[in-house]
Amino acid sequence: MAILKVAKLGHPVLRRVAEPVAPDQIAGSETQRLIDDMFETMSEYGGVGLAATQVHRPVRLLVTEDIPDPDNEGVFLARRSVVLNPEVTFLTNEEVAFFEGCLSIPDFRGRVPRIKRIRLRGLDRDGSKIDREVEGFPAVVYQHEVDHLNGVVFLDRMRDFSTLSYLSEFDRFLAAGAGPVEV
Ligand code: NI
Repeated sequence: MAILKVAKLGHPVLRRVAEPVAPDQIAGSETQRLIDDMFETMSEYGGVGLAATQVHRPVRLLVTEDIPDPDNEGVFLARRSVVLNPEVTFLTNEEVAFFEGCLSIPDFRGRVPRIKRIRLRGLDRDGSKIDREVEGFPAVVYQHEVDHLNGVVFLDRMRDFSTLSYLSEFDRFLAAGAGPVEV
């Protein structure tokens, strides 16, 4: 496995629309190695999600980390996942805004309105179908990563920049009140 270089905001690869992965490529060593390397890269940099475009590979593939439930010790809102050719459909108009960060926009945090409940479809790393409803923070993570595959970053989704903060100032002034807000 290998830790991959993460593209930073301004690199054109982050603005590319990624290409679908052909189903017969999923089992191949190239795709499987990319998935393993993306997990290792995400862990190394402490991300909760990573899209292939962020590691200079414009293919429709994302990984997400385990997401613990902040209110229930030992409970997970979502477990680590791989989604190839992900498709998100909105199941509500209701929005929620969490503070987001991004390994491609290091050391910033900002509140981003997102749809609260989504349907996520795609393929797992063994090619099996994924079709599930996701809500709350995990739904935010999937929307953030699928945006990357369409050349969109979280700054593009902010409706105002009044919450945009350096991480150090976020920790000092905002973290205590940083829970999700309805929008
Ligand atoms: Ni990101």
